Amino acid sequence: MSVPRPAAVIVLAAGEGTRMKSKTPKILHELCGRALVDHMLAAARGLEPERLIVVIGHERERVGAHLALTAPDAQTVVQAEQKGTGHAVRIVLEAVGPIAGTVLVTYGDTPMLRTGTLAGLLERHAEDGNAVTVLTAEVPDPYGYGRIVRDATGAVLAIVEEKDATAEQRAIREMNSGVYAFDGALLADAVKRVSTSNAQGEEYLTDVLSILRKDGHRVGAHIAADHVEVEGVNDRVQLAAARRVLNSRLLEGHMRAGVTVVDPDSTWVDVDVVLEQDVVLHPGTQLHGRTSVAEGAEVGPATTLTDTVVGEGAVVRNAVCVEAEIGPEAAVGPYAYLRPGTVLARKAKAGTYVEMKNARVGEGSKVPHLSYVGDATLGAGVNIGASSIFVNYDGVNKHHTTVGDHAFVGCDTMLVAPVNIGDGAYTAAGSVIDGDVPAGAIGVARARQRNIEGWTARKRPGTRSAEAAQRAAEAGDQQGSTST
Ligand code: UD1
Ligand code: CA
Repeated sequence: MSVPRPAAVIVLAAGEGTRMKSKTPKILHELCGRALVDHMLAAARGLEPERLIVVIGHERERVGAHLALTAPDAQTVVQAEQKGTGHAVRIVLEAVGPIAGTVLVTYGDTPMLRTGTLAGLLERHAEDGNAVTVLTAEVPDPYGYGRIVRDATGAVLAIVEEKDATAEQRAIREMNSGVYAFDGALLADAVKRVSTSNAQGEEYLTDVLSILRKDGHRVGAHIAADHVEVEGVNDRVQLAAARRVLNSRLLEGHMRAGVTVVDPDSTWVDVDVVLEQDVVLHPGTQLHGRTSVAEGAEVGPATTLTDTVVGEGAVVRNAVCVEAEIGPEAAVGPYAYLRPGTVLARKAKAGTYVEMKNARVGEGSKVPHLSYVGDATLGAGVNIGASSIFVNYDGVNKHHTTVGDHAFVGCDTMLVAPVNIGDGAYTAAGSVIDGDVPAGAIGVARARQRNIEGWTARKRPGTRSAEAAQRAAEAGDQQGSTST
């Protein structure tokens, strides 16, 4: 049967998350380029719910501002005091009114939960005609979780919290994931009748199951195939484990679509990264944000790309690139840093120990070694000699440099912006160029060389340098005598 569309998904995310020991609210901690809560919302969106509701409380201003940006389709409801999961749902239903249809309740801290698993729960809920269906899992160590208490026929009787459980109930390994599908109307009624007479003095959402059962409604459970999916993130150890799980899933998807990942254990990709066929990712590669890598390009080893576009067949090695555009068949690194606004055209090169910022580099132009190119436009076929610097900052303002097609900038040139080097122009090595060089000219801006004969013998007597100079002088004399 097809999956029925839920009337609402309610994501509970008001809690503090103290075990993270963080100034950042737990649900805003990031993994694979998305906050915890946004992973849950993405999975929920896959069900196409009519409404998406997030319950916020702890740090609600910061969380609310975050959600306004990342989830404008979600409505937030404030639970000022966290008086329990049942209280949170009651607050929602009081705020938005009764919801007819199926209401799915989940948490903001279960980033590994997949749409497919939620769909499985909804299917079971609809098929069995239940008033409530809880998603459960058999876990090796159920400590801390609510336990699913069933009768001899296997029917679900109740959920008992760790703190309220008997020793016998604590031995149950089927845990409550905290995800449920409810009949909206029955939920609205039952949640008002939840008491606080339990070990924690809270309104437990779990009590809704026994209330509905006592009312004579059908209560069911759906066991998740993979218990890892329903495990929440409570501390940073679990955050790291969840990140690894999500990353492996993402990499597996890319590999099945034709990407070579040489070492999946040291390769990290964010959810929105796009990789085309025959891309090769070498060890130590991290791809963040909206990075995309086109067909046949190679990235890594030891490369971090953030919001960067890599063209077909380009090679990017040992590089850090942020908001850069690397053209087809371009070459970057080893050891390059491309900062925002760098655009390399086809077959351009940003080589070893090269930094670029806000720089457009034309087709086939090369900046091979030890250079800084900032605030510049380079034409096609340009060569920038080793150790050249685009002097773009005067201490107050940034200025632009233009280098024309097929210009040749000699090694160790300082191009003091604003300055223009014409098409086909040259600069002499070691020049400080602070005036324009017209097309076809060479700009020479350096002191003339003069040699002071015999300087080492006079100023550094007795040194190895002086001895070497002496030997060279004698050899020269001998050569002189034999040739005459
Ligand atoms: C809850 C379940 C337990 C289940 C476990 C799974 C109850 C009573 N217990 O326990 O059976 O095994 O989840 O992880 O429901 N929250 C609010 N407002 C509140 C309280 C909680 O929004 O007033 C949110 C929290 O932010 C969190 C989630 O609900 O995301 C779960 O709350 P938590 O206190 O962690 O519940 P547990 O004690 O773990
Ligand atoms: Ca929890």
